[in-house]
Amino acid sequence: MNILDDNARALKPAGGVLDQVRAGEPTVWFNPSLPQASSAFAKIDLPVMGVEEAVSRWRRFAPLLACLFPDAHGTEGRIDSPLLPLSPDLAIRITDGLSKTAFVKADHALPLTGTIKARGGVYEVLVYAEELALRTGLIGNKASYDILATETARSLFAQHTILVGSTGNLGFSVGVIGRALGFNVEVHMSSDAKEWKKARLRNLGVRVVEHEADYSVAVAGARDSASKRGSCHFVDDENSRLLFFGYSAAALDLAAQIKTSGTEVSEQNPIAVFLPCGVGGAPGGVAFGLKSIFGDAVQCVFVEPVASPCMLVQLAAGTGRPVSVYDFGLDNKTAADGLAVPQASMLVAEAMQHLVNAVVTVSDDSLFSWVGTLFDEAGMKLEPSAASGFAALARYLKGLRMQGGRLPSACIVWTTGGSQLPAEEFEKVLAQARVL
Ligand SMILES: Cc1ncc(COP(=O)(O)O)c(C=O)c1O
Repeated sequence: MNILDDNARALKPAGGVLDQVRAGEPTVWFNPSLPQASSAFAKIDLPVMGVEEAVSRWRRFAPLLACLFPDAHGTEGRIDSPLLPLSPDLAIRITDGLSKTAFVKADHALPLTGTIKARGGVYEVLVYAEELALRTGLIGNKASYDILATETARSLFAQHTILVGSTGNLGFSVGVIGRALGFNVEVHMSSDAKEWKKARLRNLGVRVVEHEADYSVAVAGARDSASKRGSCHFVDDENSRLLFFGYSAAALDLAAQIKTSGTEVSEQNPIAVFLPCGVGGAPGGVAFGLKSIFGDAVQCVFVEPVASPCMLVQLAAGTGRPVSVYDFGLDNKTAADGLAVPQASMLVAEAMQHLVNAVVTVSDDSLFSWVGTLFDEAGMKLEPSAASGFAALARYLKGLRMQGGRLPSACIVWTTGGSQLPAEEFEKVLAQARVL
């Protein structure tokens, strides 16, 4: 039996949703076996205390980041973004009248790289730098970490190479911090990666290896290259716990911002958070952190392009073995380059089967259209991937209402990248939005 028949059989219970997935139509899949959050974490092979550890490590490194990136004014080395309320008018349009309260968690404007991937990528490089510095005695347990910005540290790091496979934004995040510390950095990029993203990396002094193939092949290329050399670290976007926990720390920042906004969060007044999903690490880490704080009072919704719903098909199939979007006759071709991933991380899928409320798929046209609307009406500069939450919101809320689920009293759309798009690239995206 070929894998296609096999997977098709395994997926029968999901019925109509998977027919829509196969047909490349936008759809919403609700997790049929979501446990109560109180019992979910016992089923997951990732420690909740990893979130607190990541928060502490980010704090430890803040003085170093402030020293390395003096241009990131006012951040004091904190890699976080604002929570922006949307006007009631825009909120009503986005939610099709089902909610008056909506916020944007503005990671499109995250310090350093303007993308959520910095939360994981920068974090993992910091962990590697810390390990090397401790191992060589450069820092003792109580030392101030800004010593890692000195020439002594740079010459230590210059003997090491960091490798990563990426569609663009993870590579950039690893490149920015890796080069700032003095590491050699090698980024393997998929055919979806935009030329300007490659050029930007080369300008940082990063070695860019181009693959005429998809994201999974680029990651495999980086893994292979790392296995053939010493003194290196491979940032494994498909399997890294460090990336996962780096992202998860964002949940605490968001929780504090929600409190400041005066938004009540309880099981009677839940919030819904919409997270663009590629391989799954960024949305998975954030969802893990959010569920650990808010329990069932937060609904975590992942959003994927219709051509690349890798997490949806994996969760619908069950996590017994990996499946890919190609098994469903999809081509993984989408303008949302950061989300052009054929196969989800199994590490993340295994955890998310117990935490994610739903996965929504959206068309590329809807992404362009929302990029245009958000720019015109809220002045936000988003890349297509980052607008996917807006395109998903109304479909999720309508589906939830049909199922008799509790509608959230506030929706949060995580915008995951875009503020650093070069002007001419953003013009191209806007031009596409205008012809729709
Ligand atoms: C802008 C943007 N949003 C979301 C994501 C999804 O992150 P992940 O691949 O960890 O699911 C990516 C991934 O590169 C991205 O570039």
